[in-house]
Amino acid sequence: MTTDNSSMESVSHEHRKFPPASEFVKSAHISGEAAYKALYEKSIQDPEGFWAEAAEELHWFKKWDSVLDASEAPFFKWFDGSRTNLSYNCLDRHIEAGRGDKIAIHWEGEPGDARDISYKQMHLEVCRFANAMKARGVKKGDRIAIYLPMIPELAIAVLACARIGAVHSVIFAGFSADSIRDRVLDSETCMVITADGGYRRGKMLELKQIVDEGIASCECVKDVVVVKRGDAHPVDCKMQEGRDSWYHDLVANVDDDCPAEEMEAEDLLFLLYTSGTTGKPKGIMHTTAGYQVYSYLTSKYVFDLKQDDVYWCTADVGWITGHTYIVYGIMQNGVTQVMYEGAPNHPDEGRFWDIIEKYKVSIFYTAPTAIRAFMKWGDDWVTRKDLSSLRLLGTVGEPINPEAWMWYHKMIGAERCPIVDTWWQTETGGHMLTPMPGATATKPGCATLPFFGIEPAILTDDGEAVEAGILAIKKPWPGMLRGIYGDPQRFKDTYWCKWGGKYYFPGDGARRDEDGYIWILGRVDDVVNVSGHRIGTAELESVFVEHKDVAESAVVGVPHEIKGQGLVAFVTVIDGREQDDQLRKELVTMIDKSIGKFARPERILFSSDLPKTRSGKIMRRILRDIAEGKELGNVTTLADPTVVQDLQQQYLKG
Ligand code: WTA
Repeated sequence: MTTDNSSMESVSHEHRKFPPASEFVKSAHISGEAAYKALYEKSIQDPEGFWAEAAEELHWFKKWDSVLDASEAPFFKWFDGSRTNLSYNCLDRHIEAGRGDKIAIHWEGEPGDARDISYKQMHLEVCRFANAMKARGVKKGDRIAIYLPMIPELAIAVLACARIGAVHSVIFAGFSADSIRDRVLDSETCMVITADGGYRRGKMLELKQIVDEGIASCECVKDVVVVKRGDAHPVDCKMQEGRDSWYHDLVANVDDDCPAEEMEAEDLLFLLYTSGTTGKPKGIMHTTAGYQVYSYLTSKYVFDLKQDDVYWCTADVGWITGHTYIVYGIMQNGVTQVMYEGAPNHPDEGRFWDIIEKYKVSIFYTAPTAIRAFMKWGDDWVTRKDLSSLRLLGTVGEPINPEAWMWYHKMIGAERCPIVDTWWQTETGGHMLTPMPGATATKPGCATLPFFGIEPAILTDDGEAVEAGILAIKKPWPGMLRGIYGDPQRFKDTYWCKWGGKYYFPGDGARRDEDGYIWILGRVDDVVNVSGHRIGTAELESVFVEHKDVAESAVVGVPHEIKGQGLVAFVTVIDGREQDDQLRKELVTMIDKSIGKFARPERILFSSDLPKTRSGKIMRRILRDIAEGKELGNVTTLADPTVVQDLQQQYLKG
């Protein structure tokens, strides 16, 4: 196990505890510790009863025959025999209940343009675009790639797919052309939905051009739909005759009515590609009924959602957080939310707090990396703003250091708002470990306790229960992934083989404290979490070795003040090639092109060889120590100890 010891140390001294304020507890859905414990017990004793009860709160065209079918584990089935539709539960259900005029989305563009969209309008837009897709020949089961900035059409396109049973595969708009190509080919996408551009720090990112480059050789793509975002900022957007159409043209001549397709429980809802330990991202599969119930219930309880809340999650819909906690979970609960297109520091570092003040946001959900950036920018940006509408805060995506947690608690939450530190993954579909805001006393840096129906364990490699070790999840849960697209064997090998099929293996290390709280200690595999973005080191390594002058490469994650973790690359260069900044530039360009700028390493170190054991295995532990500027321990098992000295000298030179 390679859990980072420094993170284990920093949180093992943390004993502060913050019980929720009695005002909050009084009106919370889960009110008080005893209520949490009782419901948790029930959910573990009778999971099927628990989940069936939750499902009853939603709309079903037909109810299920069984709640959980484990006969083909690990290919679990939830709510088998039922028929339902996520877009119906996100939209039609609220209109039927007389809440159609309620604002679904307060959208704000980076330049300051804004749109308020009610549930009724959202429904209309979704129906129209769904009909437009149908008119272009899209059918149930077809895969649709969505590469859009954070504009309402992103949520509309997602829900339009769900409405007609098309499978969306959202690609975060920071990914490169090559990443689009790989994802489109892997899932044989027939349509790509994009925009001419999107704003980021005052600049227009030309998304359509990136799509054109990405799909140039993808014969499966028959249609490209382009949303016009760049009205005020014209973008050179070439439309390919017969393949490309403008979104506004397509929706101009279609019917307003599009009945929601009655989907089977295990029909594929979406694919979302995520990084693992190999060079190839995995298409994580989420299906209909189980994900529906899980996204609904975790949103309701963890964010304690009430009808008068204004919720804001700062994630991008391109990641799982946006799928579950912007689109599906939040909209199923029928609350009003804010959606923001751009950067937190545009036009200045107070932008987020302006938005909270303007829309009177009551629930705010963001990433630790953003919190660390706010801390660095200084308290003045915050203290000038009125944040008194806030009642609940959340974090997601990476471990939060106690210092950042305390700042969030004091500066943003005014010591009044509970903080839910939510641990989960693309694969889990929704929250797994998290405080219940009206029940759990929180500790800075700790994801605390399991959500209902989740049974965590901490194990050794051999499956022995320990206090600190590898996190495991014992029971299946409705929001769990159902597979890796096109690769059932990889699904079994990656998640279910470690302990003989008895537990799900998430790939994180964890420690249980004296209160039974679980502290996440970071990944135990070669996945690095940079600013909350999951990056497989093998992905970068396979890019580097494509360079003609590179022989071998190893990439490691190191602690980073703002990003949580950063990447350091070690690259061995063939004889005769100068190891200079020019080569560095070429390698960085390759990362930009193959993955995206967000995956750039902090540093690239060159050497003639890498530290290896006598059997030829690269010793990553030593590379991590070098990259962190640490004293090196015993290096006598190395095949050639001088390699390490060279690297260390280079590191120190800066
Ligand atoms: C990490 C994001 C500590 C973890 C929702 C996990 C966290 C990976 C937390 C999943 C947290 C996420 N505390 N670590 N609260 N939340 N992680 O798939 O390593 O992008 O395995 O899903 O992020 O990242 P993913």
